[in-house]
Amino acid sequence: MKKTNLTADARYTIGAISPNLFGSFIEHLGRAVYEGIYEPGHPTADEAGFRGDVIELIKELGVPMVRYPGGNFVSGYNWRDGVGPKENRPTRLELAWFSTETNEFGTDEFMKWCKKAEIAPMMAVNMGTGTVQSAAELVEYCNHAGGTTISEMRRANGADEPYNVRYWCLGNEMDGLWQIGHLNAEDYGKKAFEAAKLMRWTNGEMGAENGVRAADPLRLVVCGSCNREMETFPEWDRIVLEHTYDMVDYLSMHRYYMYDKTSPRPLEDFLASADDMHGFIKTMRATIEYVRAKLRSPKQVGLSFDEWNIWTINAPRHEPIWKQAPHLLEDVYTFRDAIVFAGLMNTLLNNCDIVKIGCLAQLVNVIAPIMTEKGGGTCRQTSFYPFKYIASARGDAIRIFSDSDTFDSKHGKAHTINAALTYDKETRSAKLSVCNYGEEACELALELNGFGELTPETYIEMTGELDACNTFSDPNAVAPHRRDLPEMDGNRTSLVLPPMSWSFVTFKE
Ligand code: AHR
Repeated sequence: MKKTNLTADARYTIGAISPNLFGSFIEHLGRAVYEGIYEPGHPTADEAGFRGDVIELIKELGVPMVRYPGGNFVSGYNWRDGVGPKENRPTRLELAWFSTETNEFGTDEFMKWCKKAEIAPMMAVNMGTGTVQSAAELVEYCNHAGGTTISEMRRANGADEPYNVRYWCLGNEMDGLWQIGHLNAEDYGKKAFEAAKLMRWTNGEMGAENGVRAADPLRLVVCGSCNREMETFPEWDRIVLEHTYDMVDYLSMHRYYMYDKTSPRPLEDFLASADDMHGFIKTMRATIEYVRAKLRSPKQVGLSFDEWNIWTINAPRHEPIWKQAPHLLEDVYTFRDAIVFAGLMNTLLNNCDIVKIGCLAQLVNVIAPIMTEKGGGTCRQTSFYPFKYIASARGDAIRIFSDSDTFDSKHGKAHTINAALTYDKETRSAKLSVCNYGEEACELALELNGFGELTPETYIEMTGELDACNTFSDPNAVAPHRRDLPEMDGNRTSLVLPPMSWSFVTFKE
């Protein structure tokens, strides 16, 4: 059997895991909102129409923060359409996804839903057709206590207290030609700066343009490249950051991976996704560093990886245009997808010193870990499980030294054994997530130094047919199973990783 050595020392941390690293995303797209989180009349829905079965699964996943309302949708969205008495809300042609938007669900419903689901909201403002004024006014609507027309509008709409939304995206994928109101880097950089300035001023950050912040400042995310293949990458990021560096807190990045049968080496190219994601983060990190040095700024901008997932982008559209809540992007995830997905999560952990926000795109029905049937039940997709377990990591990510084999892919050399290790000093517990992308089983020899006397506590594993998936008729076809706990020999232990598998082990002192 192949052997891989993996060594770690509790003293050598990568960084603290941000509580927002494993957030998610709900867009007005397909059935994410309508028939997803919101379905009045559903047997589990409350008086507001929020599906209780979906909230339960979201809590099981442990999602801390959800980005809303888009995505591409936000770039044509007028937030005023979605507030006030429902009977007065306009029905619009929605140009990002060629659907009909009834606006039955809007900002107030989202805030109410977040409260119920115990999730923090992350709002996006419209930088496509929207103005810097409409962006600032949405901040006023959400966060200003009262006494102005816009804040009183919120109070009249049922929310006496401000929502106090902290995280805001300055638009979405503004580098993409497909974006409603796409801009070039210069124009977006200037607009994002002005929007950020007005949003901060609205938040009472007087002098924001000179770096002055309120006691509880807004955390602003400026649009970075929406993928590594964009012709404008990474110049887009440099230019946008040069315009906005001192005004923002995070640079966004998006990336979707797919199993592409037309790829030169379909399986290897897909399995290398985690390494490719690492390379993307490395360039974004370097671009931030470059701008920081150029501007002589002491400030450290972080990364907000606010869309990532596996997405079979070439799936055809089966629904007619202008339908309300069409079945769109309802990818069914395979076991193959699940192990690549786990590797992507490992990469986020291994870069958690700079990646402070992450949003799995998306959460329900649209490229999602949770699927729903109208009037019916729910289904956990294969990706549900790695998310649920890996997102439970707290404390610090620990640097790993490994002599893993590599394989060739279109992304370059990739690691056969892909792992992340975390350690929480508070609870004295460590968690190891490890994928074996090899076609052979592998003995993983673990040496864990400086953690005290660790004892394995739980050990789960996912293995199976690469094409297997969960469906409403067979919802548990792919799920983790428990394994016997490995024996410790001092600070060493070993695991046998089946070929094409993901394993998750927790240890406690
Ligand atoms: O998540 C689906 C879409 O992917 C989002 O609307 C967009 O931002 C990205 O291109």
